[in-house]
Amino acid sequence: MDRYLVFGHPVRHSKSPFIHTLFARQTQQELEYGLAEPAIDEFAHALRTFFDQGGKGCNVTVPFKEQAFTMVDCLSPRAKRAGAVNTIKLTDDGVLLGDNTDGAGLVADLKSHGVTLADSRLLLLGAGGAARGALAPLLAELPSELVIANRTHTKAQQLAAEFHDLGPVIAQTYEQLAGPFDLVINSTSASLQGELPPLAPALIHTDIAIYDMMYGASDTAFISWAKQHGARQTMDGLGMLVEQAAEAFTVWRGIRPGTKQVLRELKRNLGAI
Ligand code: ATR
Repeated sequence: MDRYLVFGHPVRHSKSPFIHTLFARQTQQELEYGLAEPAIDEFAHALRTFFDQGGKGCNVTVPFKEQAFTMVDCLSPRAKRAGAVNTIKLTDDGVLLGDNTDGAGLVADLKSHGVTLADSRLLLLGAGGAARGALAPLLAELPSELVIANRTHTKAQQLAAEFHDLGPVIAQTYEQLAGPFDLVINSTSASLQGELPPLAPALIHTDIAIYDMMYGASDTAFISWAKQHGARQTMDGLGMLVEQAAEAFTVWRGIRPGTKQVLRELKRNLGAI
């Protein structure tokens, strides 16, 4: 049977095996999908061993995405732009193809929630790996402007300069931000510590859409905060997780699974519905 897995550390609580097993059942594909948690300095060896032993493809998550980027034989354009690889496929010619489906997953999830990106003014919070992966797919949707704000302003400036050729992207400090924005995407890891990015509450209005790439059984700190300040449409990153997985599955199997049912099952498992 074709073998796939996700590499990460820690990865024990990854939802990817659950998601891909449901995708496989739904599309009647014969495959198995497991977990691998190599020591931090053993990822390269573990990846090579997996493919030497007949593995067909894998996902790569924190903290190995940048290292995976350096290990594949060729990169998709979107992986090249993201500087990170979250999906690897062994092609029929024996080539290891590195791809990145995170940004496509975000855009697909936003669209499934009915969010309009074209001609919209977007605010992206954070300038780490998650922000970098999102930039090209977001700019491809032709927003009127995309503003990056980050605690460490120089990192936002670097990102804006790097993606400037793809669209109207600028960097501003949190203090410089002036609304109205149509959509705020939180790519910071602040919610992990129950913290909030230092965003002025005045930027939140009833017509704004709020997206937090983090998720949990209950609202993230950022989503709770945005709701308190009047945001009516809030979304967490569970949908992005399922959509990036669907995109990876499509890369591997050439067939696109549906995501709605899988997302519902995941929410139920999380205790979120
Ligand atoms: P990831 O790969 O998930 O993006 P990362 O590269 O470590 O993770 O980036 C984390 C991002 O969250 C950074 O933009 C970080 O800001 P700094 O560049 O200033 O470190 C941001 N971040 C983390 N905690 C934050 C907080 N409490 N408030 C605001 N931004 C925060």
